Amino acid sequence: MSQPQPTILVTGGAGYIGSHTVLALKDAGYNVVVLDNLIYGHRDLLEKVLQVEFVMGDTTDRTLLDRLFQTYDIAAVMHFAAYIFVGESVTDPAKYYRNNVTGTLTLLEAMHDASVDKFVFSSTCATYGIPQFMPLTEDHPQNPINPYGYSKLFVEQMLSDFDTAYDLKSVRFRYFNAAGADPQGRLGEDHNPETHLIPLVLQAALGIRKSISIFGTDYDTPDGTCVRDYIHVCDLAQAHVLGLKYLLKGGKSQAFNLGNGNGFSVKEVIEVARAVTECEIRVELSERRAGDTPVLVGSSEKARRVLGWQPQYADLRDIVAHAWQWHQTRHGSRS
Ligand code: UFG
Repeated sequence: MSQPQPTILVTGGAGYIGSHTVLALKDAGYNVVVLDNLIYGHRDLLEKVLQVEFVMGDTTDRTLLDRLFQTYDIAAVMHFAAYIFVGESVTDPAKYYRNNVTGTLTLLEAMHDASVDKFVFSSTCATYGIPQFMPLTEDHPQNPINPYGYSKLFVEQMLSDFDTAYDLKSVRFRYFNAAGADPQGRLGEDHNPETHLIPLVLQAALGIRKSISIFGTDYDTPDGTCVRDYIHVCDLAQAHVLGLKYLLKGGKSQAFNLGNGNGFSVKEVIEVARAVTECEIRVELSERRAGDTPVLVGSSEKARRVLGWQPQYADLRDIVAHAWQWHQTRHGSRS
């Protein structure tokens, strides 16, 4: 008889990266319980696509967390639930420290009391701040330039201290620019408000917005626009499954970058979107957006070497094509 698979708690499982990871976990045979407060998560995806156990609530709710850990035999926690808007974190830092830091601390304390000692964490390349060298490796100094980045860095520090004191083992994934969608069209990126480049470009292609603004054309980059390292959300999801397996096999706590190691400018992204969609995409040249770093490209050699991670969709055209398929289904009828 085959062994029953462990149950994994996924916080923020109704959000963008969380939901793709829930599908990857199910495909790998794990039982999944999603905890999501549905402030930004999507109930319809939970019901129609994910079809896993769902607990509605917040990581700041200790009573709920204790009940959850008593109800389910949780082997590990994957923690996606967080606020992600860099600009908002500057104007309302309290919101970010309360949710991203206090919420995570509450979750970690509840885990500790329930003797759950494996944790996969959504961190970000925003913890590095202004790059001192490129591509960024995991040993690059971490000096965030906004409260969002600090909120993630503080959790990374807590995880290191919880390992030393309580033997809680964690994998910290520092994402570069998550993009794309499930190739089968079941899930995709649907933030409200949307601030990310690729979904906004595709909304312009669909006619939902009249144009895309390019934030800054005078950067010290080949075409003057910012360069980013776009990584397919399904490749991120696969990395999480590998990180989980690594911890369940007794791996030590580590941080890993997750990116493709290739930089694309804003103008290049728009050109790829024009080719993929075959639609007119009108562009407006705008001022720089506060807080944007000219170039962010990461090395993910460590994740490949230690976890055996191999991104399947490294080509930006695939990333944009999958996102386009999703956007047409999700928003097409509104155009
Ligand atoms: N951009 C535009 N026009 C837009 C939106 C974005 O020109 O309408 C540009 C941005 O200025 C930036 C690039 O497109 O140069 C990518 O912007 P995104 O907002 O898509 O992504 P960011 O690189 O700003 O942010 C991502 C993650 C954050 C994380 C950050 C780390 O989404 O969570 O990387 O730097 F904090």
